[in-house]
Amino acid sequence: MSKPVLYVTRRLPPAIEVRAQREFDARLSPDDATVTPEALLRGAQGAVAVLCSPAEKLSAETIAALPDSVRVIGTFSVGFDHIDLAAARSRGIPVVNTPDVLSVATAECALLLILMAARRAGEGERMVRAGKWTGWAPTQLMGQGVVGRRIGIFGMGRIGRELATLARSLTMEVHYRDVSRLPPELEQGATFHDADENFLPVCEILSLNAPGGAGTHHWLNAKRIALLPRGVVVANAARGTLIDDEALIAALRSGHVAAAGLDVYNNEPNLNPAYRELENVVLLPHLGSATTATRDRMGNLVLDGIAAVLAGRTPTNLVR
Ligand code: 8YV
Repeated sequence: MSKPVLYVTRRLPPAIEVRAQREFDARLSPDDATVTPEALLRGAQGAVAVLCSPAEKLSAETIAALPDSVRVIGTFSVGFDHIDLAAARSRGIPVVNTPDVLSVATAECALLLILMAARRAGEGERMVRAGKWTGWAPTQLMGQGVVGRRIGIFGMGRIGRELATLARSLTMEVHYRDVSRLPPELEQGATFHDADENFLPVCEILSLNAPGGAGTHHWLNAKRIALLPRGVVVANAARGTLIDDEALIAALRSGHVAAAGLDVYNNEPNLNPAYRELENVVLLPHLGSATTATRDRMGNLVLDGIAAVLAGRTPTNLVR
């Protein structure tokens, strides 16, 4: 019996490609090149499933043009803001993603950004690499500590809560802002804020952990930055779209925001070039979930979800 055709847009971890080839007639990426909508539509011809990544945009137009053979879309990510869900729904194509399995890795990345930004690690690394380090000095690269300080988490979902656990291990006082208050077993003593006006002024460190999409577009804008205390450290391991870059860049220049750590950007990979000119910003290339073990778990989960849909079952990782 012939196996169903699975079209995979990008290279996947080796074990996942092996599994995809075992279970499907897998059309794998030969070169990991970025995939245009036209290339995606060509690749999907005759496929029952498309396994995409956050690097491809599946607009309403692209989804409308998918061949009728496609019965499920899987995304190698927890975020699904790159997929027009309404368009997928209207064609009756379910979408599956990779929740939970990347929460710890992404929370670790948020903490990494916070520590690097607060302790000026990027500046120090650049100095050493450039051969400009003249030796230890009492006033060199003085930054901020994070232990025992107040962190504000915008978006207390799975990743936000893992970050809260890490922050508590550093004796930080955890505050959060979300659409509604969590039950006590998930809140774990964190302080809920139901308004930005109460939340932002208490943040010595602000971490963005909310999903992308219309509801959070440019949430961190000039008005909200003005409510943050001067000297705040900002981290973003969620989506670049949460930040109004012009506003953050102005605040980094003025020192109102002391430092920022960014893993994600508007218009990736073409980030606002002004960031590269600023010493007080740490720039990582969207590697939040990039541990070998996590990427294997993500691959297995998305393949499980695709297989479930094709077998007529409801997957645990169905995007609703
Ligand atoms: C990121 C992601 O690495 O799954 C996603 O949607 O983008 C993650 O894998 C993380 O959110 C950014 O640091």
